[in-house]
Formats: sequence, structure tokens, C-alpha cells
Amino acid sequence: MLVHFVTDESTKIPAIRAMLEPQYCVEPQLLGVGNQKISADGVLIVDADLRKPAPVEALKLVLKDLHCVSEKLFVVQSHLHHMVAQAFALGATAVVSRPKEVIPKLVQIEATQKAARPAAAERSPAITSGAAAFASMFAAIREGKLFMLSDAESATSEIIHSIEEKGLSAWLDDVRRYHQGTFQHCLLVTGIAVGFALDIKFASADVKRLGLAATLHDIGKARIPLAILDKPGRLDADEEAIMKRHPVIGYELLRALPEVSPEILDGVRHHHEYLDGSGYPDGLTAPKISDLVRLLTISDIFAALIEQRPYRPPMARQDAYNILCSMNGKLEPSLVKAFRNSALRG
Ligand SMILES: [Fe+2]
Ligand SMILES: [Fe+2]
Repeated sequence: MLVHFVTDESTKIPAIRAMLEPQYCVEPQLLGVGNQKISADGVLIVDADLRKPAPVEALKLVLKDLHCVSEKLFVVQSHLHHMVAQAFALGATAVVSRPKEVIPKLVQIEATQKAARPAAAERSPAITSGAAAFASMFAAIREGKLFMLSDAESATSEIIHSIEEKGLSAWLDDVRRYHQGTFQHCLLVTGIAVGFALDIKFASADVKRLGLAATLHDIGKARIPLAILDKPGRLDADEEAIMKRHPVIGYELLRALPEVSPEILDGVRHHHEYLDGSGYPDGLTAPKISDLVRLLTISDIFAALIEQRPYRPPMARQDAYNILCSMNGKLEPSLVKAFRNSALRG
């Protein structure tokens, strides 16, 4: 497999060659030095300082109209928040924190490419723009800036369009193949909620409302430390208490924007509430939980179960649906029943 290695430091080239050759053929490029257009397929690895404007601008030129490479792996030292967001905004499909983590990723990519259907080789533009919208919203919030609601609205519209055209299964396969972590989760929840709404023949304004609530539902996670957000395995009690603040944080962030409707605010604050009162943050019971929230909660749990994580394989859709069915008293049974078709066959 050909590996295009793009960096802003010449000393990194012999190091990556020593690590990857002869198993992989490394084609290096030093940013800003007579950059050539990449025309052969393979995997792109970027190891550059994304805090500096010069390498970022040079990198944008290399990445512009780059269609022959679908996997773009960025090395972001120490997983600094804003650099991770910058990497995804530039088109990263995965981020690692050290060069040596590149090898297991390449092995995984090779295996996936071998198994992939030819139709999955081309990434949906809705995924690219959806992930870029999540990256810019999360980066703006982390830096204490206002984010553009219009970014969330246009990302939602593209996701709706993609699912209307290709169906939910294609969306789930593509998202899990190309994205990780919180962005993957938000892309999945939005796709699942939209697929559900389309399947049960919602009016288009209601599909949009639910889709936007799903796009924004975990926006409060932008203020949760990455060490907790991306921790492999279970959180301890203190970490869990911090994580459970995200619905209220998201609600407070969005409440400041006059264009955000009360239904969206309700969805963001209450997507972890259960009908029996055992959820959080407000311990609401059935009469206080709206239909939009009930749909969003089902989509959120299903998405979390079928996510692709580096430390565990995704759960089969049938198994995830069975878990929803077993959550007695917590979810609306008639909606779980109505979700069946979209969850298993959409
Ligand atoms: Fe959440
Ligand atoms: Fe969520």
C-alpha cells in the first residue's frame, strides 16, 4: 500500500521511512517546498504543526481537490483539543497522538479496504460537510467563541438529503468507516433520528426539527475534557459526574442564541431522561417528556450501541435493538416498536 507522508519537518521523513518501509511504500512531501499534486491512491498521513498558519495553508493546497485518497490520518501530538478539531476541519478521517500509533491504523485500514464493498469507496459529501460542521462548532465552543447555527442547519439538511437518497444503512457504514469519537456519534445519531422520522412519514418540517435536535444534542460535550470524552472503557464515578453535565452545558450554550427554538433546547437538555424518572439531569417522568425527546433518546442509545470504537467491535443492529426492547419502563414502547423497521432494515 502506498503511503503519502506530508510533514512540515524534514527530520520526520527518515523517521517515518524507518518505521514503515519496506512493508509500505512511503512517498514523502515537505510542506511549502514545491508541493506536487497527489495523483496516486493510497493513504495520506499528515504530521505537521496545525497551530502555525504557514503549514496549515500549505496543507490546504495539498488537500484541495484530493479525490484519490480516502483515508487521511493526522498525527496530533498529545491530542490537543483545538488541533484535533483543526485536523477534522481539514478533512482528517482519523487522528492518532503519536507516530507509532500509525502502524495499527494502517493495518486496520488495509483490512477494511479489502473487505469493503466497491460502492463504499467514495465518501459521501454529506459526511465531509457534516464532520466539518461538527469540528467547527466544537472548536468554536472550546475557544469560547459563538458558533454558527447555520452550520448545524446546513449539515442537518445534507444528512437528510443523503439518507433520503441512499438510505440509513449506507450512511451508518460510511460514518463508522470514516469517523471516530464524538463526531462519529453525532453523525450517527443524526442519521438514525432522520432515518426513523422519514420511515414513519414525518412531515419535512418535523424531520428537520428532529434532525437539528440530534445534530446539537451533545454539543455540551465540547466543554467536557477530552481525557474523559475519549477514555477507552468505563468512566469512574467522578468522571461520570462530569460527563453527566453535558446536557445542561449544551442547554446553557444554546439558550444564549435567540434563533434556537424551545423544542431544540428541550431535546438538548433532556435526551438522557427516562419515562420512569431514572434519567438525568432533571429526573423528568413521562408526562414531562415530549415526543421529540422520546425519539431522540431512542436514536441516541441505538447510536451509542452500534458505534465503532477502537477498543470494541460495533454491536450488531439486531442486538442493539433487542437492548432497546429490554429497557422496560424507560422508553416509549410504541415508538421502540415503530423504530424496528428503520433500525433493522433502513
Ligand atoms: Fe448525550
Ligand atoms: Fe449522545
